[in-house]
Amino acid sequence: LQPASTPPLPNLEQLADFERGTLSRRVYWDDLVYQQELEKIFGRCWLFLGHESQLPKPGDFLTTYMAEDHVILVRQRDGSLKAFLNTCPHRGNRISFSDFGNARSFVCNYHGWSFGIDGALKGMAGQELFDASGMKSAEHGLHPVAQVASYKGLVFGNMDPNAPPLSEYLGDFRYYLDVMLDMDGQGTEFVGGPVKSVIHCNWKVPTENFIGDIYHALWTHDSAARAVLGGAVAEVYKDEHSFHVNHNGHGWEFNLDTVGNCATLGDKELRKYLYGIQPTVASRLGELRSKMIGAISSCSVFPNMSFLPGQNTFRVWQPRGPGRIELHTWTLVNKSAPQDIKERWRKGAMLTFSPSGIFEMDDGENFEFSTRTNAGFLTRQQNLYMGLGLGSRLQDTELPCNVYRNQVNEANQRAFYRRWLDLMQAQSWADVPVRDPNRLDESAFHHDAPQEAA
Ligand code: FES
Ligand code: FE
Repeated sequence: LQPASTPPLPNLEQLADFERGTLSRRVYWDDLVYQQELEKIFGRCWLFLGHESQLPKPGDFLTTYMAEDHVILVRQRDGSLKAFLNTCPHRGNRISFSDFGNARSFVCNYHGWSFGIDGALKGMAGQELFDASGMKSAEHGLHPVAQVASYKGLVFGNMDPNAPPLSEYLGDFRYYLDVMLDMDGQGTEFVGGPVKSVIHCNWKVPTENFIGDIYHALWTHDSAARAVLGGAVAEVYKDEHSFHVNHNGHGWEFNLDTVGNCATLGDKELRKYLYGIQPTVASRLGELRSKMIGAISSCSVFPNMSFLPGQNTFRVWQPRGPGRIELHTWTLVNKSAPQDIKERWRKGAMLTFSPSGIFEMDDGENFEFSTRTNAGFLTRQQNLYMGLGLGSRLQDTELPCNVYRNQVNEANQRAFYRRWLDLMQAQSWADVPVRDPNRLDESAFHHDAPQEAA
């Protein structure tokens, strides 16, 4: 028997057909696609690094991944944040083996080179033993991540010095992110975490699940919800208050009449808390967004960060090859929330979305088989369907971004792959098309604008 020949990588435009709502199964398992993603998606996009609250003091640091690149994020003496590759420029050893801590310098285990928190090479062990006269120390510091920036507590890094600023990258999607990050002007923080686990799936499968797939929840999670939470996981709506919204590949699905429903996790105190702060949210963000807090909804920020409002699980799907991810999760809470409420949320997130969580296990199995089955020789040549809700875009709406009706829709999955394909085909950011030019005024994102403060 001759081994089956692997079909060559098709033209990228053959991977998705947005008119018919189809997607090639190759995007989930093909290593050639994955290698291009490392360069064109993860090498260009703003990637979540950490939360400001994790690094309050100079020298506070954490280590994390930007796709396969391991990085150190560290608070500088002037209060700014810098990020570096967590690898020694001498022989490439890992520099820091801690998840987080406070450091005055970083010292490599191998030959003892030391680096300041600004990344500069400060010292070399055993200097009396060698001649380093030909070496310019300034050229051998830790390699910096090109751009680091924050939006309301969330810190992102970008390897591409020519990438647009974070504010532009998030764009009008910040209108929705503020429902998660800016309910009362006091900010947010992580409780616990990161909780780490490995799932044998392609990184895009969970991102597209969280970007707007409430559809699966009423089926996949039904029995776990009834067994542990005492009822159906969620009521899902097809009415004038249900939407898919997306912008620049980010997406959010929600219903405006379900405040606290998703949040309860069977816990009435969480629901009471959300109803309690709703008037504050309304005065800060407006009536409409006050109806989104803790509602049945989910969101993803392109390419690999997701959040589940109400359950408050915050997660990054770190790719490890085309068929594996390392999942990092935290519980995100309002800084001003009472301690008891923070603790209830942390426990609720562990019950539902942790390696032993009832919903995580349901999802993990779906994610793994939605990846693995696509590698079959005949299977990989078939297309998948993501066309639910084609033609359901709303023209006259007060909501910003691209807005589609109904919670069950595949508009956000299509928008995610549209952005993915735009980036995969572009030679640089200058080639990436703008697909939703209607923009809110920039002042919409500064809730402490002078007229409010006056
Ligand atoms: Fe780091 Fe040699 S590899 S000091
Ligand atoms: Fe799920």
